[in-house]
Parts: sequence; structure tokens; C-alpha cells
Amino acid sequence: MNTGTIQPVMCVVGARPNFMKMAPILRALASHVPSLPALLVHTGQHYDTGMSDQLFADLRLPRPDINLEVGSGSHAVQTAEVMKRFEPALDQLGPSCVLVVGDVNSTLACTLVAVKKGIPVVHVEAGLRSYDRKMPEEVNRVLTDQVADRLYITERSAAQNLQREGVAPERIVFTGNVMIDSLLACRETARPARDTLREAGLDAALLDHPRGYGVVTLHRPSNVDEAATLQPLLEILAETSLLLPLVFAMHPRTRNNIQRFGLQSVLDPRRVAVLPPQGYLEMVGLMKGASLVLTDSGGLQEETTALGVPCLTLRENTERPITVDQGTNTMVGADLAAIRAGVADILAGRGKQGRVPELWDGHAAERIAADLHQWLRAGAR
Ligand code: UD1
Repeated sequence: MNTGTIQPVMCVVGARPNFMKMAPILRALASHVPSLPALLVHTGQHYDTGMSDQLFADLRLPRPDINLEVGSGSHAVQTAEVMKRFEPALDQLGPSCVLVVGDVNSTLACTLVAVKKGIPVVHVEAGLRSYDRKMPEEVNRVLTDQVADRLYITERSAAQNLQREGVAPERIVFTGNVMIDSLLACRETARPARDTLREAGLDAALLDHPRGYGVVTLHRPSNVDEAATLQPLLEILAETSLLLPLVFAMHPRTRNNIQRFGLQSVLDPRRVAVLPPQGYLEMVGLMKGASLVLTDSGGLQEETTALGVPCLTLRENTERPITVDQGTNTMVGADLAAIRAGVADILAGRGKQGRVPELWDGHAAERIAADLHQWLRAGAR
């Protein structure tokens, strides 16, 4: 079959949770018969080695064709800067479509630029809703989905959300979860937790506790930007660490705020191993051996469900309800009593077992490539 008429798919990544979604998509576009040409743009929203370079290496992502190097800033500055720098790249490359993933500022910024230039937009992981407009990611999701031309969803509830918002059903395709493609591809080669602690210069004997260990990540502004919320959360983690040693992979935002608020002494280093942001293979290795995960991340809610590890989510709501309905996830908010009870349940062996949701089977990206090929051949209509 002739693919000569298909211009490259311009794939956009910006921040950490984008990378594990894009890696299997790029591979699937390349291995589809016939292959679909692709270009990779990194907006540079995340730029640290731990937040970006290491993940590129772990996930075998190719070097970006273009790096816009926007860096950090307020939401307005970051979004505007991506838009300003993305426009000339789009003009120069003339893609068949722009493919964005997830819900970060880069996702929305590139969508807005493309759609106003009449370039079709493809959104992977569309239709997830927390119904909490205070989350910047929710605003990014709603607006991206409104103007995207092709929407690939990870769970069926997303189709209902989209149709309620007036998105035509023929634009929506249920393909499964590309992030789980990455997880399944890397599960066997994940780095053992002991090696990760040793590499960080920490004592791996922390992991030898009879109950195992827990993994913590926290980075949502709603949890970490105010001392009045962050301090009690750190205190409940300190309390939990008396029952179960914890490994805390700390986002730079959280680390900065702990210092700013003078909360460095709340966590006892003999019971809580604090690590910098981890590579993908390290994170999967930490999660797969954990007795429980405490997090406010979207991705970890899904990854723990796929791995069958009990997860307590320190948020009031989730845009990924299937992880609660079918998976191992329990929402505990910042409610200290709920966190305490959740930990006690899991340690008593009453944690959720869950099951792996439909089409979280490691082949979502292949389904996307197949559909995208047909759709582009049909004129992206
Ligand atoms: C972003 C995403 C969030 C995602 C998270 C994963 C948005 C609105 N939010 O949040 O959905 O869950 O990424 O990590 O897009 N920083 C560094 N090094 C970096 C990047 C950031 O030190 O490489 C620090 C800077 O101080 C920066 C802060 O982290 O100001 C926040 O970074 P930013 O990209 O604005 O948002 P995240 O909190 O990372």
C-alpha cells in the first residue's frame, strides 16, 4: 500500500507522565504495516535529568526532532511560551496531524496552536474527568477534548463523559491504555528496589521489614503547596513509617516546599528513604515489590491497578474511576483518619485485589496506529 501521501504525525511530549505514553505509540507507528512517519517534539516543560532525560533512556524514546526548551513558569507563562515556540515548528514541519497525550500544559498549548491552523489534533487518553475544575489538568483535558478531531480513550466511562460534553461518538475510539503498554514492556527488566536504594547511597536493609515497604509520591499543588496541608500529610507518612518503611520518590516541587516550610525533620530517614525523581525502570521496580503505594499521581493509580498492588490515593477525586471500580485503588483524600484506616486494612491483608481493566493488555498503541492510519488515509474526517 502506498503511504507516500501521509505526512508525518507530529507527536508532542512535555512533562514526565507524557513520556511513558508516547514511547509505545512511536514504536507502533513505526512497526505498523505500512509504517506511519512520525516526528517527536519535546516542549521542554520538564528538563531535569530525573524528570526527562532518564525517562527518555529508560523508555527507549528517540531524541526529539525539536526541543522547544520552555522550562518552568506560571501556567500562563508556560502555556503561552509553548504556543509561541510550537507555531513555527508546526509551520516548518507541515504534519498530517498533531498527536498529544494526557493532560499537561504542553498538551493543551500545542492543541490550541494546531487547531487554529486547521491541523487535525489527535488526543490519546481523552475523556478522563475528575469534575474538579480547580485541577489545572482538568481544564487542560476538557479544552483539548473539545477541539480534538480524534479521541482515543482508555476506559469506557470516558466515552460517556465526552458525549455529555457534546463530542460526536464517531470521533471517539476505545483503544485501551498506552501507559500500560509501557508498564508491561518494562515489567521484567525493572530495576530491583534494593539496587535503587543502594544507588542512592541508602541502606537497602530498610526494605527487609517483615511487612515489606510502601512507596510514596506526592506532587499535586493542592497537597504540597500549603504548609497547612503538607505538614499533616508528612506527619501521617511519619506515623505510617512506624508500621511499614517507606520509599518516597520526591518531585522537585515537593522537595522545594518541604525546605521552604522548614519541614525537613518530619520524616525520619531511618524509616523513610527519600529519593530524587526516579527513572522509569526504578519506579516500576519500586512499585512492583511494594506492599502498598500512597500517591496523588494519576499514572500510579493506573500502574498499581495493572500490577495488582494496593494503592491509596491522596486526592478527593479521580479522573480514572476504573482503578477504583475494578482495580486496587482507594481514594482517601487528605483525610488523616481515612489514610490511617486504609493503611491498617492493607497491612491486615484486606487490601483490594482488583482485576486488570479491559484492553489494558499491552497492545493499545498498536490499535491506535491501526486506527490512525485508516483515519488519515480517509482524509482525517
Ligand atoms: C506537571 C503536570 C502534572 C503532572 C506532573 C508530573 C501540568 C499542569 N502539570 O506538573 O499534571 O502530574 O507534571 O511530574 O502540566 N521542576 C524542576 N525540574 C523539572 C520540571 C519542574 O525542578 O524538570 C520544578 C520547578 O520548580 C517547577 C515545578 O517543578 O516550577 C513544577 O513544574 P511544572 O512543569 O510547572 O508542573 P508539575 O508540578 O511538574
